[in-house]
Amino acid sequence: MSEIPGLPILPAFPTTRMRRLRRTPALRRLSAQVAVQPADLILPMFVAEGLAEPRPISSMPGVVQHTLDSLTKAALEAVQAGVGGLMLFGVPAQKDAVGSGADDPNGILNAGLARLKFELGDATVLMADLCLDEFTDHGHCGVLALDGSVDNDATLKRYESMAIAQAEAGADLLGTSGMMDGQVAVVRQALDSVARSEVGVLAYAPKYASAFFGPFREAVDSSLTGDRLTYQQDPARGVAEALAEVSLDVAEGADIVMVKPAMPYLDILAQVAAASPVQVAAYQVSGEYAMVEAAAGHGWIDRDRAITESLVSIKRAGAEMILTYWAVEAAQRLL
Ligand code: PBG
Repeated sequence: MSEIPGLPILPAFPTTRMRRLRRTPALRRLSAQVAVQPADLILPMFVAEGLAEPRPISSMPGVVQHTLDSLTKAALEAVQAGVGGLMLFGVPAQKDAVGSGADDPNGILNAGLARLKFELGDATVLMADLCLDEFTDHGHCGVLALDGSVDNDATLKRYESMAIAQAEAGADLLGTSGMMDGQVAVVRQALDSVARSEVGVLAYAPKYASAFFGPFREAVDSSLTGDRLTYQQDPARGVAEALAEVSLDVAEGADIVMVKPAMPYLDILAQVAAASPVQVAAYQVSGEYAMVEAAAGHGWIDRDRAITESLVSIKRAGAEMILTYWAVEAAQRLL
């Protein structure tokens, strides 16, 4: 083959007949290199306080805020479908400046965790979002200083208390998603100090201040005005910062690191996967879900193929686990 000027010289591929392995479904199935398994998929779920029945989230068609009863039913269905785990978010009835509902053992997130632990035991991996934004009346991921900025170290105190409450409620893995410096270290220490060293940390390591979290704000009734740019990463930053976030989190005790969002950050995901000493997850976030559902709703995209292709892409980029709102139906299709 002649060289194309400007392209790097690659080792010769042993055939020029590239279509040979594409000819039949059986050949394509045999030669596939990326497979998504049900156990790779983690279902994020929302449980809300004070609901009489599940409430649909309009920007995420098919996703609801659950009651404790509907949460239990949906969780059982997910486990039956073979998903690898559940990530629980709580939506309290009352929010306040410090997010008091977050570490209250009777708060909705901890009550939801306790209920799922009671119903499911160790049949699945139970994860909890460890962040204050669902619980604060200003909607930030931490507590505020007098000047209105998010106070890193005062927030860490709240995260310590949340970690202990979530562990006591039955979480197996805590998803540190607040992007405070030092959060993994304080959570790890807090868990060890109450003899819960078996509880792990799923650290949101690179997490970008993303517009693709938009529908999630509706999902948790967020009151945030403004943005999270003083603590989440700027999308215009490169891979070095992402790798620094990973190495800090690993040094502080992360058991798994996560990249978030997924599809707009597959470059970051691939490089994190290549470098990380611990396993790597990716979060296909609310906006990624909403885009496909909206386009499919208009008949503009083949929904099922787009879902599968997006999950395969995230796996191919290097994620070993994927948080996705499609976890149950994808798992059912894969089984
Ligand atoms: C923080 C948190 C968020 C998401 C997961 N954990 C919101 C944010 O950081 O603004 C977003 C998930 C999604 O968009 O699906 N508690």
